[in-house]
Amino acid sequence: MRSHYCGELNEQHVGQEVVLCGWAHRRRDHGGVIFIDLRDREGIAQIVIDPDTVEAFATAEGVRNEFVLKLTGIVRPRPEGTTNDVMGTGRIEVLGKQLEVLNAAKTPPFQLDEHAEVGEDIRLRYRYIDLRRPEMADRLRFRSKVSNSIRNFLDDNGFLDIETPLLTKATPEGARDYLVPSRTHQGRFFALPQSPQLFKQILMAAGMDRYYQIAKCFRDEDLRADRQPEFTQIDIETSFMNEEQIMGMSEAMIREVFKKHLDVDLGDFPRMTFEEAMRRYGSDKPDLRIDMELIDIADLMQEVDFKVFNGPANDPASRVVALRVPEGARLSRKEIDEYTKYVSIYGAKGLAWIKVNDLDAGVEGLQSPILKFMPEQVIKDVLARIGAQTGDLVFFGADKTKIVNESIGALRIKVGIDMNMLKKEWAPLWVIDFPMFEHDSEGNLTPLHHPFTAPSCSVEDLKKDPANALSRAYDMVLNGTELGGGSIRINKPSMQQSVFEILGIEEEEAAEKFGFLLDALAYGCPPHGGLAFGLDRLIMLMTDANSIREVIAFPKTQSAACPLTDAPGLVSTKQLRELNIQIRQTAKE
Ligand code: AMO
Ligand code: AMP
Repeated sequence: MRSHYCGELNEQHVGQEVVLCGWAHRRRDHGGVIFIDLRDREGIAQIVIDPDTVEAFATAEGVRNEFVLKLTGIVRPRPEGTTNDVMGTGRIEVLGKQLEVLNAAKTPPFQLDEHAEVGEDIRLRYRYIDLRRPEMADRLRFRSKVSNSIRNFLDDNGFLDIETPLLTKATPEGARDYLVPSRTHQGRFFALPQSPQLFKQILMAAGMDRYYQIAKCFRDEDLRADRQPEFTQIDIETSFMNEEQIMGMSEAMIREVFKKHLDVDLGDFPRMTFEEAMRRYGSDKPDLRIDMELIDIADLMQEVDFKVFNGPANDPASRVVALRVPEGARLSRKEIDEYTKYVSIYGAKGLAWIKVNDLDAGVEGLQSPILKFMPEQVIKDVLARIGAQTGDLVFFGADKTKIVNESIGALRIKVGIDMNMLKKEWAPLWVIDFPMFEHDSEGNLTPLHHPFTAPSCSVEDLKKDPANALSRAYDMVLNGTELGGGSIRINKPSMQQSVFEILGIEEEEAAEKFGFLLDALAYGCPPHGGLAFGLDRLIMLMTDANSIREVIAFPKTQSAACPLTDAPGLVSTKQLRELNIQIRQTAKE
């Protein structure tokens, strides 16, 4: 139907007859002349319709926003003084000769440039209108280009794109499963994959050597800005490669994508152990764009007569840290109170602070609600250790290690962003030497990654001290977001059995849940490993979007629903009967 996209027209087309198809973005009557901004995927062109093209003019008078139009006209330069250098097509306009309304449109629930005011629910309900916004279309186009580059990179490196089932058995990645009832096996359920983890390992046992898939994953977990119940991984697995080689190759892939699509050179990614990341940044995905660090001061606080500090200072499961905020003394009481409220979300019971108004004036030069609790020498030692300067503010966190890490770790980022302390635009790194296990809230060991991750030690050492064993896992972190993660896997049944035992999975349960994997390991499974990147997160970071919902065509809401289709929906009694499922009535109903 069309000869050109609206957005591709420029001065080179002047004098040509063009046929455009698109949506009426805006219509203006200007004293007898009608202007229509015609929009398609590639951009907007200004159409001019004169009254002397009688038919077209009459049609144009009836055009409303979001009508679908076909226009034939001649490209001409815009008159002097009416050019628009912000628009790609701002130096030309199209003088319309024939105008056809291909379809009318109801008044849209929101004007495209007023999307911010309507709330996300409305945007998602009318997603087809939201996606007409150039910004949204640009992100989807960008996403398509990036995933295409990734496919090419992997293809060039000998990877096979292999699909794995969506109707499958549970793959534990730490979330709840989405279940699908089976009609043909009553009382039984498929689980949608939390990741293709087990299948990609089995593909290695099958000799596929290098596998990749841009794979849909499903996790029923609490949602946040960088989490969706249904999301996409760039999933990779290789045989006969060690962690150095896998990290090297995937780092090269991410570097290439940034160079090609953003002209950004990420350089070599630094490495940091999990222990160092937690100690210095309170997080296993540290945002290295910010220089501030958590500094341990428990040893200085053991004797002070101040319960808030000396309790945690004498408890091995706790931490006392200081966070020096350069030039933070200019923060107001109100701002400090806001930060106190902020850390309380993470369980912190308070947020002690000292303002260093004049370092040379000793205690006189300090301002703080906690000075009265602390001997002068301790204060001096603390300030010396953290390298305090006049004009600084020092925050303190004292509590169980987990609470201090989470609260002061988050505070570090919040203050860093609020105070414009980002030192660079991109800060990638690898976090390595993760522990194999962590303790859950009930004190049981759970895998820090998944239970198929290989330990760095022997079976004997693992059994002797599982809580302190390290794994051969690695995470790629970018600007404080976990972009991807993976590991070398266990490829021997005996090691896999031992890990299940440590996790309290009895032999019978292991055989029932993972017997197929144990079998595959037993029939000649090569050493293998891999990783998976979150494609949505990668695109979110690359396009500077606030949430992964902005880079997914049809995302779910925070409560895991789809306002467009109204899923999840009710099903008929007949369907339920076929599945042998009965819905329990809750008290409320
Ligand atoms: P993991 O669970 O770390 O590892 O997931 C890999 C990457 O997927 C992304 N991601 C998500 N993105 C959006 N919404 C979610 N709910 C979500 N959950 C995870 C993250 C994360 O880094 N099978 C292993 C990989 C492996 O070991 O090879 C796995 O799934 O960017
Ligand atoms: P309190 O004795 O509870 O009034 O606290 C005195 C000061 O210590 C206040 O500034 C509190 O914000 C701060 N504070 C209390 N608990 C903690 C904690 N766990 N970590 C850091 N500071 C705290």
